[in-house]
Amino acid sequence: MTPLYIVVLAAGQGKRMNSALPKVLQPLAAKPLLAHVLQTAQVLDPDKVIVIYGHGGETVRASFEGWDLTWVYQAEQKGTGHALVQALPHLPAQGVVLVLYGDVPLLQPHTLEQLIQPAHDALVLLTQHIPEPGGYGRILRDDRQQVIGIREEKDASTQEKQIHEVNTGIMAMPLEHVSHWLERLTCANAQGEYYLTDIVASAVTDGVIVHTVQPTYDWEALGINDKRQLARLEGIWQRHQAEALLGRGVTIADPDRLTVRGTVTCGRDVMLDVGVILEGSVILEEGVTIGPYCVLKNCRIGTGTVVQAYTHVEGAQLGAGNRVGPYARIRPGTITQQAVHLGNFVEVKNCTIDQASKANHLTYLGDSSIGARVNVGAGTITCNYDGVNKHRTQIGDDVFIGSDTQLVAPVTVEAGATIGAGSTIVRTAPADQLTLSRSRQMTVPHWKRPLKK
Ligand code: UD1
Ligand code: CA
Repeated sequence: MTPLYIVVLAAGQGKRMNSALPKVLQPLAAKPLLAHVLQTAQVLDPDKVIVIYGHGGETVRASFEGWDLTWVYQAEQKGTGHALVQALPHLPAQGVVLVLYGDVPLLQPHTLEQLIQPAHDALVLLTQHIPEPGGYGRILRDDRQQVIGIREEKDASTQEKQIHEVNTGIMAMPLEHVSHWLERLTCANAQGEYYLTDIVASAVTDGVIVHTVQPTYDWEALGINDKRQLARLEGIWQRHQAEALLGRGVTIADPDRLTVRGTVTCGRDVMLDVGVILEGSVILEEGVTIGPYCVLKNCRIGTGTVVQAYTHVEGAQLGAGNRVGPYARIRPGTITQQAVHLGNFVEVKNCTIDQASKANHLTYLGDSSIGARVNVGAGTITCNYDGVNKHRTQIGDDVFIGSDTQLVAPVTVEAGATIGAGSTIVRTAPADQLTLSRSRQMTVPHWKRPLKK
């Protein structure tokens, strides 16, 4: 196989974003634009990836620490041709080079493969026929429909502006020709820039075939210059991801009101209600139902579990047949076994909860190990934090905890114990007995309510 080198042009400023954040770091589906490009590049298994950076330079570089990339600084942005020239010292004399843009995030690997394949002995351009070609470079063809050049909008004649086939800017070509094609570039044009697009005419002169390829989806090659375009592409991408889930058999109440910011793995018959946000890596097993406006991040939800409206789950693993929410908050380190119920205004953090245990109302459980068939009454709180350190609470099987109990950790409630409502438990509550700490109820005789003076 011909070795593949990828050059990502990302030195442009992105003034129209009106943002302190460099353009290529603006998030699409919660991931920087440039990260989309670089991850797609990785899928193509290149020998090297070179990023041409300039504006926002060090911030951009710092965001990709640990990635296997060659960073090349382009101090002054003198055009796309000038940008590729910066990469030359880092490229060998043979192989294929693919040019991508840091602000064109959604190109699909399949489309790029179509571009790379013929590029060992041809210049291959990704072009598109669009109804409103204004602003783009136009593809010039001769009578035999062979590509003979690209004309930038600002250099185009009225007649050339009628052409609807545009240059997306994405191209692949044999390295053996690149350096002398780039040597021939001049900045004798309307913008005084070194246009990469001028290499097309050089290829024609050298008798190298110029191919064109079109993207599979018409949105793939869309670039981002401002927040409007960013929002539009976000919408397109979200719809595309929803369609993919629908294709895999997921039921989605409203595909336009689902947000995926990561990867979702779904079993059969999963149902997602409106307004659901899925972030990071989310695994939904068979028959899971996610209610409206839930936020799920880096979690696994077991078979048949129902997560009801407005529930947040993060960094947790819920077992099969659980019922969680509405309005529950399940935080990192929570692992539940099957048939666990966690109801409204219940917050759980770093807890293991065994099967069929329930905390149905207004409760905070943190740093706890909870056995099977436990019933946690309304208003129960594990006091896990002494202001300096966190401590664990151990609750055995078949425990019943009365409402409004405080469990001051470290503390153990042994199997089968019952805690009377309103108790503050600071020492071990022994197995199978009733423990309570509560002042005796009394009634004050002859007491009168105060009267207004
Ligand atoms: C370019 C193409 C045009 C095409 C359009 C598609 C040229 C001369 N024109 O135009 O035919 O229709 O893209 O969007 O190539 N960049 C650098 N360094 C530079 C200049 C640009 O890194 O010196 C980067 C930018 O950050 C951007 C990409 O190259 O990611 C394209 O630059 P841009 O200025 O947007 O190109 P256009 O003039 O729009
Ligand atoms: Ca552009």
